[in-house]
Amino acid sequence: MENLYRQFYDLLEKNIGIQLDQNKQYLVDSRLVDLAKSTGQQTVPALLKHILNTPAGPLHWQAFEAMTTNETLFFRDKSFFDALSNVILPKLIEARSNERSLRIFCAAASTGQEPYSLAMLIRDRFSQLNGWDIYIQASDISEKSLSRARLGVYSQREVERGLEPDLLRRYFSKTSESNYEIAPAIRALVNFSRHNLLDEGYSYPKFDLVLLRNVLIYFGAETKDRILKNVHRQIAADHGLLLLGATESLIGYPHFKLAQAGKISTYAPV
Ligand SMILES: C[S@@+](CC[C@H](N)C(=O)[O-])C[C@H]1O[C@@H](n2cnc3c(N)ncnc32)[C@H](O)[C@@H]1O
Repeated sequence: MENLYRQFYDLLEKNIGIQLDQNKQYLVDSRLVDLAKSTGQQTVPALLKHILNTPAGPLHWQAFEAMTTNETLFFRDKSFFDALSNVILPKLIEARSNERSLRIFCAAASTGQEPYSLAMLIRDRFSQLNGWDIYIQASDISEKSLSRARLGVYSQREVERGLEPDLLRRYFSKTSESNYEIAPAIRALVNFSRHNLLDEGYSYPKFDLVLLRNVLIYFGAETKDRILKNVHRQIAADHGLLLLGATESLIGYPHFKLAQAGKISTYAPV
């Protein structure tokens, strides 16, 4: 039985990078129990056996996705959005003033609160960008999260997490007793697509800014290296920046140069 779980951990890491501790059997059980039942396998070990003995297909990906943690919220980490607003975006806007275009990649965007926060910030604080070509590419491996993100509809509880009442009033409309839909003008700034960070992805045109927040924590050192190599290739060499989550850092990583912007760290490709 233990061996069954160990083989599933290996398969999970190989396909989406997530590394689980050997003692996370309870997590696998709780995340896969519904999938096991819905596929007629009855128990999680039976589902795992089936997955391990059949060639990779949609069921495998459903199981991998079920193991992702999709926790997110609007304007997650105030220092981060303050730094974006006061230091990082003004500098980028200056660097891109001839081209009048800004390309931002929001990787591992989950259900969309992060890229929509960024889009609201841009529309709210940077009226000088009206008429610019603004492109926010948001991606995730989880189709389930992406379809929610594309819909742009959030519950009362979700909009209460991180969103100022004034932004809720101006950028959302109430669609039912307890649901709010993001304004079309904000929605239009964000393009959602499925992308596995282990895959190379597009490297041209390069991005001016890449957000890769609260996801590196799930990967082992080798996977982290592989992902950072992919991301490095996608960032504009002269002015582009990579931004991580509050608990993540790349100290000592030779391909990125660390600098400070407000209270957060930024990483420029070298
Ligand atoms: C905790 S959420 C972070 C959401 C958002 N970036 C934030 O900081 O609020 C982590 C996301 O990473 C995604 N993820 C995990 N492994 C991935 C992979 N290999 N490729 C792309 N996305 C992945 C998960 O599906 C999940 O939605």
